[in-house]
Amino acid sequence: MRAGIEAMGLYTPRHVLDLRTLAASRGIAAEKFTEGLGQSWMAVPSPDEDVVTMAANAALTALEGVDRGKIDTLIFATESGIDQSKAAAIYVHSLLGLPSRCRTFEVKQACCSSTAALQMALSHVLLRPESKALIVASDIARYGIGTPGEPTQGAGAIAMVVSANPRVMEIHPEAGFYTEDVMDFWRPNYLDEALVDGKYSIRVYLKALEESWRDFHEQTKLDFRDFHRFCYHMPFSKMAAKAHLHLARVTGNGETPAAALDAQIRDAQEYNRQVGNCYTASLYIGLLSLLETSAEDLSGRRVGFFSYGSGCMGSFFSGTVQAGYRSVLPIEAHRRMFAERRVIDLPVYEQFYSHRLPEDGTDYATPRHPTGAFRLSGLSGHKRQYERVDARPGAEWSDLPAHAATPTLATV
Ligand code: HMG
Repeated sequence: MRAGIEAMGLYTPRHVLDLRTLAASRGIAAEKFTEGLGQSWMAVPSPDEDVVTMAANAALTALEGVDRGKIDTLIFATESGIDQSKAAAIYVHSLLGLPSRCRTFEVKQACCSSTAALQMALSHVLLRPESKALIVASDIARYGIGTPGEPTQGAGAIAMVVSANPRVMEIHPEAGFYTEDVMDFWRPNYLDEALVDGKYSIRVYLKALEESWRDFHEQTKLDFRDFHRFCYHMPFSKMAAKAHLHLARVTGNGETPAAALDAQIRDAQEYNRQVGNCYTASLYIGLLSLLETSAEDLSGRRVGFFSYGSGCMGSFFSGTVQAGYRSVLPIEAHRRMFAERRVIDLPVYEQFYSHRLPEDGTDYATPRHPTGAFRLSGLSGHKRQYERVDARPGAEWSDLPAHAATPTLATV
């Protein structure tokens, strides 16, 4: 029996900051961000967006044409949780009107929990092939203003329907794992921004890649050359290049020409360059980017995945792209979403960044901004209030400059 991804949807906020603007305001050469980190834009959530609205918006796109009545499991992966007790998944379940006969919960292990959710969902649908699982991964990457992590922020969500009818990609059950107790990146409950030992986090990421690969290789005997493309967890797009070169070297493929290595990861980097780190969603945004921007028909090709979550856990696994995958993906909806993004200036970014919801229980209406179909309308008695809105941008939108560099979506 086969299982994997039947459908996918992406959501990223409508507001973006040009990293050249950020560099200029912080007195840093723009090339450090655009070339050194490989990032061009950073998605910035407005005050009426959170991980629930982003996840619900991504899921709305993914569920187009899917039989919702078959969904009996909803797993929400995030490290930007909105409640210590109630799962963000319950809100999404309600906003989407999913069946009440559903197992609905949230999972956490930094950026890697989305992969644990995917692997859990695969086991579930292999046992119950008539059912479907919905996985949402949604995050807002936040570091301190003016810190080295600031240009690696971002926001977005991915939704995946997992079933025994993997129309997009079959995910193979073998997976390599690695866990080690390290403090490379963490966020204590009392902080809104992550703390990070940046250079150390890169070293640990590469070690986890090597060890996860070793475990995977021992189980499968697959070699580096058995893969056509690779998707890596991408805190910034250059990290994928560092990771790929490292994996090539440790597998004895270090002599591969740089252009050939680049071709194996380039398409997967495109969306991440445009939205920034989305923690749990990043790896799968990379997959969507590969499938939607590659000019090559990838049907039947094997893709290698490395998922990394600080703290730390890594997993290497693989999947095979299915024939006809492009006709299943909501490419046009994603193209429209990218095209509708608007560029904000530094004061708006800092205003959005510093917005806080009241913590004293007073009722509060969040200022209205262009969002997807779901927004956080406010708080009432410490309870978050969500609403469905007309997703089309309103008149206030025309004041902001259009986003000049939308990704090119290839036609195969
Ligand atoms: P930094 O110290 O500001 O930057 O922090 P740098 O000095 O290392 O420079 C970055 C790159 O720019 C270097 O390239 C420089 O040479 C280059 P490299 O040598 O690495 O190839 N550079 C320039 N290039 C062109 N023109 C110039 C120029 N100047 C410098 N003028 C760092 C960088 C990534 C550490 C920082 O942004 C950070 O701390 N980010 C957050 C942590 C992070 O993303 N870690 C990645 C691995 S951990 C992970 O992925 C997990 C995570 O997603 C969390 C989770 O799991 O939940 C973060």
